[in-house]
Amino acid sequence: MSYPYQIKSLAQYHDDYKKSAEDPEAFWGDVASNFYWRKKWDKVLDWNFTEPKIEWFKGGKLNITENCIDRHLATMADKPAIIWEPNNPEERVRVVTYARLHKRVCQVAQMLVNNGVKKGDRVCIYMGMVPELAYAILGCARIGAIHSVIFGGFSAQSIADRLYDAQAEFIITCDGAFRGGKDIPLKSVIDDALIGNRTVKRVIVYTRTRTPVSMIKGRDVWWEDEMDYAETQVEKDGKVFFPAEEMDAEDPLFILYTSGSTGKPKGVVHTIGGYMVWTAYTFVNVFQYQPGDVHFCTADIGWITGHSYIVYGPLAAGATSMMFEGIPSWPDAGRFWEIVQKHKVNCIYTAPTAIRSLMSYGTAPVEGKDLSSLKVLGTVGEPINEEAWHWYDENIGKKACPIVDTWWQTETGGTLISNLAGVTPGIPSWASLPMPGVQPLLVDERGHEITEKDEHGHLKGNLCIKAPWPGILRTTWGDHERCRTNYFATYPGLYFTGDGALKDEGGNYRITGRVDDVLNISGHRIGTAEVENAINMHSGVVESAVVGYPHDIKGQGIYAFVIYNGHHGDENLRRQDISLTVSKIIGPIAKPDKIQFVTGLPKTRSGKIMRRILRKIAEGEIANLGDTTTLLDPGVVDEIKDGKL
Ligand code: PRX
Repeated sequence: MSYPYQIKSLAQYHDDYKKSAEDPEAFWGDVASNFYWRKKWDKVLDWNFTEPKIEWFKGGKLNITENCIDRHLATMADKPAIIWEPNNPEERVRVVTYARLHKRVCQVAQMLVNNGVKKGDRVCIYMGMVPELAYAILGCARIGAIHSVIFGGFSAQSIADRLYDAQAEFIITCDGAFRGGKDIPLKSVIDDALIGNRTVKRVIVYTRTRTPVSMIKGRDVWWEDEMDYAETQVEKDGKVFFPAEEMDAEDPLFILYTSGSTGKPKGVVHTIGGYMVWTAYTFVNVFQYQPGDVHFCTADIGWITGHSYIVYGPLAAGATSMMFEGIPSWPDAGRFWEIVQKHKVNCIYTAPTAIRSLMSYGTAPVEGKDLSSLKVLGTVGEPINEEAWHWYDENIGKKACPIVDTWWQTETGGTLISNLAGVTPGIPSWASLPMPGVQPLLVDERGHEITEKDEHGHLKGNLCIKAPWPGILRTTWGDHERCRTNYFATYPGLYFTGDGALKDEGGNYRITGRVDDVLNISGHRIGTAEVENAINMHSGVVESAVVGYPHDIKGQGIYAFVIYNGHHGDENLRRQDISLTVSKIIGPIAKPDKIQFVTGLPKTRSGKIMRRILRKIAEGEIANLGDTTTLLDPGVVDEIKDGKL
């Protein structure tokens, strides 16, 4: 497989960037022609950011699984598509060739049809990191069902909300998932999520941990039984066949729920054609993938990073994608490096939080590991601090591997700003240059473009994008107006990212973090309002306010100020009760790191909580709280300062 759209030099980058900005239709039409379309599109791009309406490759007909699998079979049937490394290093590795992947995906597609799933139906997937999760996703895509993967760390309540929002009728899950020394009972969480649910007709359960599970007659079926039967249907005379559904380029591919600054998580919708082109294009260019390379993205497929850079991007490019079931620190902190050595990994793509946590073990776990196969390192999910960047560069890349710092979001489908490994320069803690097709703009609070430089010669403002790229979200499921108000209304005519950024004279961007009420905890997005709602569900809580604070490993930690009026007793016990409540309502990932009990919260006379003040206190900037005279009760600030944890 070759990639005519792969950028090979800095000069070509500038040239392609220019072309993509001047004539996006010609540029992306050319890139898209490298994929397999049953029918070519009528128009490359039609858009406005007012409604918003964004259509790429409209009228084009395709099936993404034919692009990710079938078209590779003639030349790469025996090449590994997925290499699966189990949680427990003693367990056997699974190498899934493109031929095997084809067979399994055809079986899943048949199994779904056998269970009543039709094109356009929503299938919720709640599984651990097993190859069957990739088969499930691709099986949905093969029949045109819309998958919605939910990360295994979300609670039953969170799942119930998502099932309801998506009106999902089908679930694929596992009995349990192995993560480090833990065994997570996924099916039992699903059972809780289904109490009172009226839409789900079928739950397909894959056996991974052999944890006892309840199986409800008429609703729950075993994956293994269903797949065995499907095998007899799709395999004839040694040949495997299941026709892929012909889809429109703008049909939805998946829904992925993500947190915002208000309300419940929203279902970000990506459509087939543009997402496919964008993930493959960015994969090949950012990582400078070469055929035969082993690409190891350490993310969970429950997040967008796993969707785009474990499954769709790599497979659309005919790559070999590593999939790891476990966690970086189990059985010891050398696990990633052992995987790199064992599978001769060429590119490792991980989160700054993982790097920082591994740094804390020192270099002993790296010593003696042969990392010479590595060519490219990548990071994603949050700003990387310089210390972590240098540690990664020196100890893992041995100063010989470019580090790509990829900035993007669930809503952007794939990377928007990043250096291209070895092709465009990397600068520690800077995401650097925009991808072709991406036109960033920094604006002030009123939406005016920033033109004045700060004392370091940087422009500083809120990061917006002027025009659509193929991978941009199309809507939020069931509520297009929410999509408009969240992303396109703050600054009319622009897509607003929610991030702040700096820009230097060379046109490089440095992402400084969220400027809205969204936290980034270990690279996971959580809205402060969501955590507050969960805390307020605790019977003893009167009111709460949640802010982020700098955390050495997680990047940001959750700091909760809580007014409590329940029965008294040990403060620590109360804290645990509140944490457990958050765990039940959202999931363990949203548990506060610190809970400070207060008797009041700083509010304006109109009753608005002054988060700015709370943020400063949580960050330890107590001396410099700014103007507190407009507060209803300025005295409360002193009490909060004194009680800081
Ligand atoms: O604040 C930015 C941060 O993560 C947010 C997006 O989160 P999510 O949708 O969960 O997607 C994460 C994986 C793509 C962004 O708004 N972020 C992501 N990548 C970076 C980053 N911040 C700084 N540098 C990055 N490379």
